[in-house]
Amino acid sequence: MIIYKTRAQAELIRESCKIVNDAIAEAAKMLKPGITTMQLDRRIEEYIRDCGALPSFKGYNGYPYASCISVNDAVVHGFPNEEVLKEGDVVSVDVGAFKNNFHGDSAYTFILGNTADEKVARLVRTTKESLYLGIEKAVAGNRIGDISHAIQQHTERLFGYGVVRELVGHGLGNNLHEDPQVPNYGKRGSGTILKEGLVIAIEPMINLGRKDVTTASDGWTILTRDGKPSAHFEHTVFVQKEKADILSSFDTIEKAEKENSFLFSDYV
Ligand code: MF3
Ligand code: CO
Repeated sequence: MIIYKTRAQAELIRESCKIVNDAIAEAAKMLKPGITTMQLDRRIEEYIRDCGALPSFKGYNGYPYASCISVNDAVVHGFPNEEVLKEGDVVSVDVGAFKNNFHGDSAYTFILGNTADEKVARLVRTTKESLYLGIEKAVAGNRIGDISHAIQQHTERLFGYGVVRELVGHGLGNNLHEDPQVPNYGKRGSGTILKEGLVIAIEPMINLGRKDVTTASDGWTILTRDGKPSAHFEHTVFVQKEKADILSSFDTIEKAEKENSFLFSDYV
């Protein structure tokens, strides 16, 4: 069952998203070789709580941390840990915050280092582009499949990347995961019709190699089967008539990414 949101409710979701995105930006400022993902998670949790919000992920189906930090062949749901990050690492930071009874959900992928492997940089750039191409289709009258198809077209068809099938985007609001599901693959014109007031998280998870994934022994971390890197970006969007209203924003994250010389930002 889909729960449509009013403009006022969407603005509360935007508030939660702002906390999420600024928490990711705080992590972006700290990212450098030698830091551990646990240090990032601690800062993220502290930032969220300082904003009077709760970390949406912590305790969700028993998930133990405020953030999911997925490095290299980890696709999503990576546990923050004490391993030290190094130059060349592909680091996806996924965060949720709950305030005023509404969740916000967003994710961003960074590359550590001044330079980046060209193939990896293209994967990350293309995954972000596919998110925005999906968002362009998130307008009233279209269907979920139009979003899915746009993402798959730009990543799998155009570049031969693996589109993860097992995990999907989702509706959100009072609950972190609501209907409908938003796959990153599918047919144009298929699936649930989009109506004004729908709030969905669109989150392409795209592998440099094959689409196949496996779950790590921690029971959470999703890994690529072929061990190649993966990228993940996520926005929370409010479906409207002409153009989707993107409730999350990468502005503060991209600013931090550009200003941090330990992060690659030379995407063409
Ligand atoms: N952004 C992810 C999602 O929407 C994060 C969920 S992790 C969990 O599914 F720990 F909360 F499950
Ligand atoms: Co999500």
